[in-house]
Amino acid sequence: MTMENAMPAPLPNPLPQAGEGTNDRYANLSFFLADESATQALAQRLAARLTPGLVIYLHGDLGAGKTTLVRGVLNALGYTGRVKSPTYTLLEPYSAGGLELRHFDLYRLNDQEEWESAGFRDEFDGHNVFFIEWPEKAQDLLPVADMEIQLEMAGEGRKAILLANTKTGRECLERL
Ligand SMILES: Nc1ncnc2c1ncn2[C@@H]1O[C@H](COP(=O)(O)OP(=O)(O)OP(=O)(O)O)[C@@H](O)[C@H]1O
Ligand SMILES: [Mg+2]
Repeated sequence: MTMENAMPAPLPNPLPQAGEGTNDRYANLSFFLADESATQALAQRLAARLTPGLVIYLHGDLGAGKTTLVRGVLNALGYTGRVKSPTYTLLEPYSAGGLELRHFDLYRLNDQEEWESAGFRDEFDGHNVFFIEWPEKAQDLLPVADMEIQLEMAGEGRKAILLANTKTGRECLERL
């Protein structure tokens, strides 16, 4: 790998935000992601800040770019296999960059019984790193999110809003 390739991608341009200049500066960050490469740049920076046990909820409409962001994170961690949407499996597990990642898409989760019988509860062992699409479908079955990422359509691109809910999540955002 050349030095150039090893350089972290620059962060996409941050958008002005309400918390600017206050103590809440890092509790809330927004970016405009003009195209998929901007999403990948954000994913690369995020990948470098993941720590075991981190729980990230991904919000946004169908096609907002949630799976694309997770794919970018996995690629940045050196995962070279296919990253497919867990639309039907609900969960896809990965081992990459020294981390155990769990990618959920709960859009098709039916009920708590399905959750329990699939053994999903056991995945939350304080060690695995979670990216959870459609967390609202599992409601109180999930642990609190350290970070929530909201993706929205913005013209041809996307807007990403990153919120930290815990100290761990805040530390992750501060070092982004
Ligand atoms: N920053 C961006 N600008 C423009 N297009 C983007 C950007 N990021 C991702 N996309 C495109 O948007 C689509 C996002 O699809 P993706 O499967 O990631 O959405 P999703 O939020 O996971 O949807 P679902 O809820 O159905 O799982 C892809 O076609 C991708 O190429
Ligand atoms: Mg998806």
